[in-house]
Amino acid sequence: MDDLKAKYLGQIAEAADENALETIRVSAVGKKGEVSLKMRELGKMTPDERQVAGPALNALKDEINSALAAKKAGLADAALDARLRTEWLDVTLPTRATRQGTLHPVSQVTEEVTAIFAEMGFAVAEGPRIETDWHNFDALNIPGHHPARAEMDTFYMHRAEGDNRPPHVLRTHTSPVQIRSMEQAGAPLRVICPGGVYRADYDQTHTPMFHQVEGLAIDKNISMANLKWVLEEFVKAFFEVDDVELRFRASHFPFTEPSAEVDIRCSWEGGTLKVGEGDDWLEILGSGMVHPKVLEAGNIDSNEWQGFAFGMGIDRIAMLKYGIPDLRAFFDSDLRWLRHYGFSALDVPTLHGGLSR
Ligand code: PHE
Repeated sequence: MDDLKAKYLGQIAEAADENALETIRVSAVGKKGEVSLKMRELGKMTPDERQVAGPALNALKDEINSALAAKKAGLADAALDARLRTEWLDVTLPTRATRQGTLHPVSQVTEEVTAIFAEMGFAVAEGPRIETDWHNFDALNIPGHHPARAEMDTFYMHRAEGDNRPPHVLRTHTSPVQIRSMEQAGAPLRVICPGGVYRADYDQTHTPMFHQVEGLAIDKNISMANLKWVLEEFVKAFFEVDDVELRFRASHFPFTEPSAEVDIRCSWEGGTLKVGEGDDWLEILGSGMVHPKVLEAGNIDSNEWQGFAFGMGIDRIAMLKYGIPDLRAFFDSDLRWLRHYGFSALDVPTLHGGLSR
């Protein structure tokens, strides 16, 4: 028995890997292993002999099994050590010198706009791009026959033959998110809603898909004065200038009353745009006090609450701020354009750290 013990413990100590260990296990304590066969011989022994040999064999079997387990654990530790040595990585190395990709100006400007309005207490709300006819039009006080429906060059979704419900539309503006936000959160409310919108239009200054950001503030005594202050603060922060002049022009939208379009003072001298000086005016957004019918469509009591709303073209203000001449190039996915006008993904715009660097 001492010979068996010496033989197998020796073999286990020498085993190079798990496969070798398994072979040793089978030949020692497997069903037909040497120790197991010896145990079968117990039956042929006299009771006295058995009383000595039985416990000794069992002890030998236990010893071999625990030596196998210990060696197995040792091998696994060694394998892990070896792997850790080869997978070593110097985390202090500099990052890649060349940028692998850039943030699209629309994404960058959306982040900038969000940072500015977040500071003023506006949360971000989103809605679907495929919108119900009701959210996109009716709820915004644009009934079926209203000319605004035609003006917007709406893309209608397909309906199955015989289905007479109004078709869904690709939203023509972000204003339906006003309704969805009111439905979800009620009043008081302060949200901005950035996102893609669609109109069947394509020329130098129009693409069938573009981006807007909607603003909506509802409270007990909100007025046009609040709207004006918020927009002025926004424009100063966004264009990173100390002073700007905004011009509110009376206008008309079915979902606001009164309504105003807002222009910003600028100059085009030498072909480059400067915000805040000069004799030109550039339209940047539509706005107004939320129409009572729109509040009611969003389940908000218009006797108790009122609010302002605005809608601004993101692509438009991106072109203005970063001097990008052609709107259509925004969506061509031309790598040279993206590298030139793109932004580093690691420079997150914040008001304290700077919006654009
Ligand atoms: N939805 C309008 C548009 O797309 C903009 C707007 C939004 C005007 C909110 C007033 C209030 O032109």
